[in-house]
Amino acid sequence: MIFLAVKSPSTSLKDGPKPVKKARKKRQTKVVAAITTGASPAAVSILDNLNKFPHCILLTRVGQFYESYFEQAVEVAALLDIKLTTRKWDGQRIHMCGFPLMHLDKHMKTLIQHHKRFVAMCEEFPKFVAGARYFERRVVRVITPGTLIDESFLNPYENNYLLAVHSDADVIDANGIGVLGQKKIGLAWIDISTGDFLSKLSSLDTLRDDLVRINPREIVLDHRLQGLPSHPVRTILEEEDSFVTYAHLPATSKEPPLDEDHPNAGHDATASDDITEQTDDNNPTAPTISYTPQEENAFNLVTAYLHANLLENMPTLNLPNREGNDGRMRIDAHTIKALEIRESMKEGGVKGSLLSTVKRTVTTSGSRLLGRWLCSPSTSLHEINARQTLVAFFHARPHFCTSLRVALKDIEDAGRIVQRFLLGKGGPNDLLALGNTIKAWGSVRQLVEDERRFEMQEVPHLSSQDWASIDALMSRLSELSSIQQRIDLAFRKEISDSESGSEGASDEELVEPGDARNRTAWKFGHDKWLINPAFSEELTTLHENLKNFLQQREQKELELQRRFNAPSLTLRTSPAYGMHVHLAKKREQGELNKAEAFISIAESGTTKSYFNQEWSHLGARIVETAQALEIAERDACELLRNEVNEHAPQLRRNARIVDELDVTLGFAQLAKEMNFVRPKIRDDHSYYVENGRHPTVELGLLTSGRVFTPNTTQMTPQSRLHIITGPNMAGKSTLLRQTALIAILAQTGSFVPADSATIGLVDQLFSRVGAKDDLFHGRSTFMVEMMETAEILRKATPRSLVIMDEVGRGTTVKDGLAIAFATIHHLLTVNRCRALFATHFHELADMVGYTEQQENPAGSGVFKDVTFFHSDVQDIGDDRFAYSYRLKPGINRDSHGLKVAQLAGLPSKCLTIASATLDCLKHGEKSTRQEESMVHSEFWTTT
Ligand SMILES: Nc1ncnc2c1ncn2[C@@H]1O[C@H](COP(=O)(O)OP(=O)(O)OP(=O)(O)O)[C@@H](O)[C@H]1O
Ligand SMILES: [Mg+2]
Repeated sequence: MIFLAVKSPSTSLKDGPKPVKKARKKRQTKVVAAITTGASPAAVSILDNLNKFPHCILLTRVGQFYESYFEQAVEVAALLDIKLTTRKWDGQRIHMCGFPLMHLDKHMKTLIQHHKRFVAMCEEFPKFVAGARYFERRVVRVITPGTLIDESFLNPYENNYLLAVHSDADVIDANGIGVLGQKKIGLAWIDISTGDFLSKLSSLDTLRDDLVRINPREIVLDHRLQGLPSHPVRTILEEEDSFVTYAHLPATSKEPPLDEDHPNAGHDATASDDITEQTDDNNPTAPTISYTPQEENAFNLVTAYLHANLLENMPTLNLPNREGNDGRMRIDAHTIKALEIRESMKEGGVKGSLLSTVKRTVTTSGSRLLGRWLCSPSTSLHEINARQTLVAFFHARPHFCTSLRVALKDIEDAGRIVQRFLLGKGGPNDLLALGNTIKAWGSVRQLVEDERRFEMQEVPHLSSQDWASIDALMSRLSELSSIQQRIDLAFRKEISDSESGSEGASDEELVEPGDARNRTAWKFGHDKWLINPAFSEELTTLHENLKNFLQQREQKELELQRRFNAPSLTLRTSPAYGMHVHLAKKREQGELNKAEAFISIAESGTTKSYFNQEWSHLGARIVETAQALEIAERDACELLRNEVNEHAPQLRRNARIVDELDVTLGFAQLAKEMNFVRPKIRDDHSYYVENGRHPTVELGLLTSGRVFTPNTTQMTPQSRLHIITGPNMAGKSTLLRQTALIAILAQTGSFVPADSATIGLVDQLFSRVGAKDDLFHGRSTFMVEMMETAEILRKATPRSLVIMDEVGRGTTVKDGLAIAFATIHHLLTVNRCRALFATHFHELADMVGYTEQQENPAGSGVFKDVTFFHSDVQDIGDDRFAYSYRLKPGINRDSHGLKVAQLAGLPSKCLTIASATLDCLKHGEKSTRQEESMVHSEFWTTT
């Protein structure tokens, strides 16, 4: 696989990983020639790696440092703001820079996340040839933004997806978006840190929506698209500011990656992300998927890319689960952003978003699941009901809900831990965390059983129906206590605690043989060993032997002290003298010097050392046993790792079940805290929300001691489209957004902020809200607005929910009015969907046949299913006014824009002119340009 280039998120290719520039390379080659003739193995291997990974920053491990050399060192020093220096290598002076091991995370974050560079990690491995030690250096992994495994800067609350987008290079047809729109595009995305792997058949038409929903950190495209800058896929990726890499599809890509009978074959996850719905990874009877060629290509692209980057950490991949278009509410790209579902537009982070408002999950993986669910609510009545039933179950048992949430706090991110093992990583601390998590799963199961028993005693006639959904969930939780017991047995409690609590100690440090801890272990006793001796017979024997030898050493030491009248005598080892007898007080040497078995080997002013064969033999046996123990401990860890890997599917499944439990418990907690109710979901086109509230605005108001005014919205087949008018700042946009958010929450399985709610399933949610230009891509605010409107009018179905806020405001009144009118007509007659339409164009009412005297004001003729609502302000004297925020039937022809302008602090002089102008315009609906200019001149001349 060859990497061709990477485009930086915003502009050109220049910021992304790229081969070393030609001139630099030339200079470097010269140095190479000079150095390779000198044949310093370290320099040769570094140069070799630089050539093999020209698109990467190469970091080479040298002892306790990571270093960069040659011309690349100049760049690395600048990027990391570290000192650039030089060193002499085989007669050549070259650049170099480096940083200590402990700063690796910090610098990786800068290189990978901030500068979007790829980093090739070259590690050193000690080798022994003919008794001499040397270091083999090889690149073990290339780290890119989309292939993070366990880096400290990996966001635990979000998935870190790498997405392959496969589109044929020859789909370009300069003319037809209609034709192109249907072109099939294969998507395959994987979060390598959790193992979540999905695929989907998309199209140019839906690619943008999929991109925003999946939210990948890095996108891989087939290299053939690199030479096609105007390819529609590239245009979309560029507009979405995606970080793109190009790679070659492997030659065998036409073949399906694994056949359908393969045990790792993927499953159709069409129905849901819901564990109660998903097929079992291990179930051979589960239906397998036949992938489309486009999906296969995307799958192959992502796999080849991972092979090339994960290198020694490449896991065995399952086939992806397929995400279908059915079963999910489709929320288009603008809407996910505009409704601030995952991120707030103003802050860019989660704060102020729907996710942050409704998140009550206690585990990080639960939060990730919640984020996915909110961007992709269900359209399956069965699934929604199952989730709601569980929420209702916990809602009715607040104490039980609290105990379970407390138990979940002990749960670690098991999905990520298991993935680390599958990737050949993961150490004792991960094993311990996994053991604790399995224990916590057991506590959860126990809590459920206890609660049921207790409830059955209290209310004997209680229907077991109530418990059906929690039982269904619990029954899928695999019993894995045997692994936990093995882990428990392996790690002695007192050691586990101290090791796991030692901050900054990497897993490898805990098991690496020959480290300081182990070397000194035999000297001071053997309490520092990691694995419990009882774990295996071999360990038991070795520990017994070691204990024996150590006792012998102790006895011998005492005996020698006594025999030679030398209390400062100790039996020691050191790199310089090997096994030796040490006298701390030289004056005690008298007797010792006379003994033949003690040969003096060194002395200082106050101390003296002797060689003694007996001690030498015993010491050697201690060292041998200690080394054998190190190996046996490593083997034990390896054994446990393999056991974890064998149970990976069940561990992952349990983790996913508990994630779902966490989200559901969170919904119950949320409902309690924010007074949400269970909505009824129906298979029709209704929407009735009594006294609905906007969850985020309500929370915002609450924090400033204000109260949200609820509103009732009822859409029926006879009242499908509501036109909402009213003053500025009177709550129109808020109502629109809350209507959409309530539908999302309801179909996610959550309760909703209202007194009651009945909602007909929404298949697609569209919004045209907010105003944002996109000047970079040559689109004005009005153009963006029209493009979004066009997409809604093309795609909305009778099951869809559309919210439109002030469509047509960005142009002249007449043009805007005409567009707004036509849009309403289209929504009503073609899309026939449920829609809320907020506007300041009160003229629309007359255009659709609104008559004042009706009790329930509606349009007439073709517009008979249009209903009118409005908000208002009340003058409360002293130039002050109050918003009621309460919607009423009818129309409001006054926008009170000047009041808002006054509130916003427009200079009084300006307000006076505006007010007089408004009077003038109001009186003279037929006002002419002449009159307007008269107003204009009158004020300008008098002020
Ligand atoms: N139902 C409500 N109860 C309490 N406060 C509300 C309510 N609705 C809106 N608000 C407050 O009023 C502010 C303005 O609301 P919103 O943006 O919905 O008004 P608008 O009618 O769309 O105004 P404009 O016509 O200028 O767009 C909100 O930010 C919120 O603080
Ligand atoms: Mg508004």
